[in-house]
Amino acid sequence: MAIRPVLRMGDARLMQRAREIALFDTPELHTLIVDMDDTLRAQDGVGLAAPQIGVGLRIVIFGFDTNPRYPDAESVPYTVLINPVLTPASEEFEEGWEGCLSLPGLRGLVPRWRHLRYEGFDPLGQRIDRTVEGFHARVVQHETDHLDGVLYPMRMKDMSRFGFTDLLFPDRAEASE
Ligand code: NI
Repeated sequence: MAIRPVLRMGDARLMQRAREIALFDTPELHTLIVDMDDTLRAQDGVGLAAPQIGVGLRIVIFGFDTNPRYPDAESVPYTVLINPVLTPASEEFEEGWEGCLSLPGLRGLVPRWRHLRYEGFDPLGQRIDRTVEGFHARVVQHETDHLDGVLYPMRMKDMSRFGFTDLLFPDRAEASE
């Protein structure tokens, strides 16, 4: 068990394409996932990708019942998703506010597919295949982007909707982040 430092935007390791996992259910994989989970919980995050702790492998974790950083978001089931493949499940886009543990204190309005099918594997190598929408779909797209070196500001269309959380949302407790 270990809380690992989260890399911040500007670190070259966040800009690289992560590699596929070839072997499932190994002690190394389980240890890495425990570290990711410890790190995510310590930061009150809703998701984390392995490259954010400096590991260039295609693993993301996400999920929460309620989250102080996103008080209005519907719950998302806790999931470890390996080698994800995303497919839009409709042509509809939706804008929503996103933050990222690699850009502490900031938020931006980001367009994402509203309906999403995602496929991949759990840590035992069993298939995951879900079709979701809304914030759940948004989180999966955000985390999977990390595996291809993409951070949310790179998806934004209007940089006037990018700024510090405490100034964008002055009335929210989450502003202290
Ligand atoms: Ni992120």
